[in-house]
Parts: sequence; C-alpha cells; structure tokens
Amino acid sequence: MDFKDNVVILTGASTGIGEAMAHQLAGQGAWLALAARSAQKLEAVAAECRARGGRTLVVPTDVTDEAECRELVERTVAEFGRVDTLINNAGLSMWMKLEDVADLGSLEYIMRVNFFGSMYCTYYALPHLKRSRGRIVAVASVAARTGIPTRTGYAASKHALVGFMESLRIEVEDDGVSVTIAFPDFVGSGMHTRSLGADGQPLGHNPLQVDKIMTSDECARLILAGVAARQRQIVMSNRARFGQWLKLIAPGRVDGIAKKAIEKGR
Ligand SMILES: NC(=O)c1ccc[n+]([C@@H]2O[C@H](COP(=O)([O-])OP(=O)(O)OC[C@H]3O[C@@H](n4cnc5c(N)ncnc54)[C@H](OP(=O)(O)O)[C@@H]3O)[C@@H](O)[C@H]2O)c1
Repeated sequence: MDFKDNVVILTGASTGIGEAMAHQLAGQGAWLALAARSAQKLEAVAAECRARGGRTLVVPTDVTDEAECRELVERTVAEFGRVDTLINNAGLSMWMKLEDVADLGSLEYIMRVNFFGSMYCTYYALPHLKRSRGRIVAVASVAARTGIPTRTGYAASKHALVGFMESLRIEVEDDGVSVTIAFPDFVGSGMHTRSLGADGQPLGHNPLQVDKIMTSDECARLILAGVAARQRQIVMSNRARFGQWLKLIAPGRVDGIAKKAIEKGR
C-alpha cells in the first residue's frame, strides 16, 4: 500500500494507461486528482476509483493550457491540502512520415500536449512537491531514447520531456523530490487509434497487433512499482533494455529494430 493517503495528480486519467493507474492507485487508498479533457470519462473513472477505496477530485483539464494546469494544482491543494505525487501521463502520438504531413501544426500540437503540458503541471506543482518531499513522474516512451519512423514529432516531444526531467531531477535532488521517467514500449491502449495521421485527424484504427503487446494494466503496474521505489527510470521491454546498450556500439542496428517494429506492428 505504497500510495495509501498519498495525494496524486494524474493527467491523462480518462482512459488507457492513466485509467489503469487511477484504478490501481485507488485500490491502494490514494487521494486522486484526475485530469484529462473529457469530464464525462473522468467521472466514470472517478466512480470506479471510489468503489475501490480511493478519494477523488475530477478536474477537467486541457494540459496545453497553462492556466488550466495551474488550476489543476490549485484545486488539488484546496481539496486535499497538499500534493505528494504528480504523474505526467497525458499524451498524444502520430502515425505519419514527415513528407506526408499536410499541416505542421499537427506536430506542434503534439509537442504542446506531450512536452509543454508536462512542463506546466510540473512547474505549478513543484513548490508543493518540495514541501511534501514528493515524487514527479513522466510517462515518456521508448521513442524518447531512439528514433522511430512515422514518429518524428512524437519522438521529439518525448526526447524533450526526458531532457527537461533529467535536468530537473538534479535541481530537486537536495529537496528530497524524486523524478521517475517511464519508457513504455508498445502498449495496448486506444492511443494508436487516436494517433494523428497525415491529415492531422485521428487514425481511427489500430495498426498494432494488440494481442502481442503489453496491456495498459501491466504497464500501469510496472510504472507504479517503479514510482513507489523512486526509481530513476523504468524500462519495460527486453527490446528496449537491449537497445539501450546496442545503441552505444551499433546504433544502425537499433534503427533497424525500430523500423521492423513499426512494419510488423508489435
Ligand atoms: N500506448 C502506447 O503504446 C504507449 C507507448 C509509450 C508511451 N505511451 C505514453 O503513455 C501515456 C498514456 O498513453 P495511453 O497509451 O494511455 O494513451 P490514450 O489511451 O490515448 O490516453 C491518453 C490520455 O491523455 C489524455 N489527453 C490527451 N490530450 C490531452 C490534453 N490536451 N489535455 C489533457 N489530457 C489529454 C486523454 O484524455 P482526453 O482525450 O479526455 O483529454 C487520455 O486520458 C502517453 O504519454 C503516451 O505517450 C504510450
């Protein structure tokens, strides 16, 4: 019960990995501030969380809006009195080659959700996290450590997120605040169906072989175990673990692995 009475702000809580984390945290008795854009989906997640023993606050938030991120933190503190853990999980992906992109605004938008959204929430939560000697979490991706075809803008946003978090980790170390970065491989959420295609619209179908990849529940379990232990990073697949080392001696081989993964959809 690592998160009993722990005040957790969780972005991207309405579905996928975030929803799974919300359920698991609630089962441990966490006090949850649940954020995403869809109020209706958040209310459904909150009801399930309460049934599992958690306390909940629903804060509909668009993380691309700095003022809404500030309000998310302020409402959490007003309701629960503190912030112990911030989980920056909200994210958006893409499935398009750069040459096919109709409007570069799509890539800018991905950067705003994945990078700026996490930066805003972290900035406003930081004074509270220093008071509680709390935890900051960033849900990055294997695309934060290596290039992936069809993911130029997504990989850029996740690389930026990791650079930000690794720098912040050093700044806050002496305040007792930990920074944990998770690097999921493919996960069977709806993210791929929602990924932006070349026309800037959601793809509408999932090109992945969902039965061959990690579930959102398993991914959430691994993230929360790593956060409880205040691990620096959580690398979730053998492919990613092997790739980290291989990249040092044969980076071209890692490119080949990434290309094959996208072609095979697993
Ligand atoms: N699934 C994978 O294969 C995979 C692999 C590596 C890393 N990840 C990362 O894991 C995290 C969770 O992804 P997932 O697979 O659970 O995706 P998902 O099922 O698509 O969920 C994404 C969540 O982010 C929220 N969100 C999107 N745009 C937002 C915005 N502007 N403001 C606030 N919330 C927003 C969505 O809610 P609303 O639409 O209601 O706002 C939803 O709750 C992401 O950061 C993703 O990059 C996923």
